Amino acid sequence: MTKYIIEGGNRLEGCVKISGSKNSSLPIMAASILSGKTTKLYNVPNIHDIEITLQILKVLGCNVKKNSGKITIDSSKIESNEIPQLLMREMRSSVIMAGAIIGRLKNATFSYPGGCEIGSRPIDIHLNGFKKLGINIEEEGGFIRCSCDKIKGAKIHLDFPSVGATENLILASVFAEGETIISNAAMEPEIIDLQLFLNKMGAKVEGAGTNTIIIKGVKRLKDVSYTVMPDRIEAGTFLCATAITNGNIQITNVEPTHMTPIISKLRECGCRIKTGKDEIFMQAPKRLNPTQIKTMPYPGFPTDMQPIFGTILTTARGTSMVIENIFESRYKYANELIRMGAKIHVQERTAVIKGVRRLKGAEVFATDLRGGAALTIAGLNAKEQTKVNNIEYILRGYENFDKKLNNLGAKITIEKGE
Ligand code: EPZ
Repeated sequence: MTKYIIEGGNRLEGCVKISGSKNSSLPIMAASILSGKTTKLYNVPNIHDIEITLQILKVLGCNVKKNSGKITIDSSKIESNEIPQLLMREMRSSVIMAGAIIGRLKNATFSYPGGCEIGSRPIDIHLNGFKKLGINIEEEGGFIRCSCDKIKGAKIHLDFPSVGATENLILASVFAEGETIISNAAMEPEIIDLQLFLNKMGAKVEGAGTNTIIIKGVKRLKDVSYTVMPDRIEAGTFLCATAITNGNIQITNVEPTHMTPIISKLRECGCRIKTGKDEIFMQAPKRLNPTQIKTMPYPGFPTDMQPIFGTILTTARGTSMVIENIFESRYKYANELIRMGAKIHVQERTAVIKGVRRLKGAEVFATDLRGGAALTIAGLNAKEQTKVNNIEYILRGYENFDKKLNNLGAKITIEKGE
């Protein structure tokens, strides 16, 4: 197990540049399968989930090149329709490749992605949408085989505004015969980024960012170059790292309009925030005010920020409440914070957090990506040493996390596991 060794107690001060969005890069890389041409992507974060996606694209037959934040994908030769099971298990969100493979080849095979550390993660909404598009689904031995002669545009209403299902169904509909209308669609900014990318390739998608998305089928797509949007969750993580250390930060290469719920809650907690076109300035108070957080689909408070925001509330002046409405087990980080002196009571989807003046250093264990980031910023608050184990989870979604924090005054070193 590789771990962070954190000597906490320092205020974070200075400037940090945000990387490209993990959750926008993944569907856009999947979408590159559709064109059969060359896709050039810029501002792609150098993280493990991108590595896994590149491996899957290579197994499918794509020719891929990566040069720091620039990725080139030539999908002219797709030789396989199967998402490798091991890679699917390593990154369940690779299910979003299915829509692109089916859109291109009219068939796809993949294994059930299975649950993960934050919940069961079913894909029923994806599969029901595929069926509405005229795609046959056979499930056998944990594998799902999708096939059809042609994809017919359809009206699809999502039971829940699932981000992945919205993305998958857009990708499967790009070459459909006729028009597809997805209602109760997810409205996350990453879906707008996917629409902008697809339309630059020659697709006809409209309505992303609203709850109704219309895709008019086209016959072909073309070469494209595209710059991925900034990562709003990474930006929120750095704002929270500053908030829990009474710090003062400037964040650049960020889209403040993607972060309204996070900024609004930080202001409620007493942070002074100014926003520019692509930057945010924040001065944290000596001690945060308590608040209430309810995670909701966008534009509500993002579930990915719940563990991180819950962590800063453990040091607030009073009692806060957090309700997690999206995933059924996203509080595993709380037990680790209790080892650091936090006072958290979790009951099903609700956490009641009684603020303490300061957390205490301890050895803790990350169990998922955002929970691992949360434990790391908890270590920044404690004056004693904190060890965060299993940082592999964190490296999946944060580029140069420790380096960026150290540039702001943190003292984090990495101890390689045996
Ligand atoms: C995306 O996951 C993100 N991942 C998640 O970020 C994020 O937490 C989530 O959206 C919500 O915003 C990527 O974009 C790669 P969902 P996704 O489908 O698409 C239920 C991170 O930390 N559901 O919107 O899997 C599901 O169980 C990750 O970066 C069904 O019931 O999320 C969950 O309760 C974690 N059936 C809820 O919907 C389905 O068919 C939201 O899931 C699909 C989903």
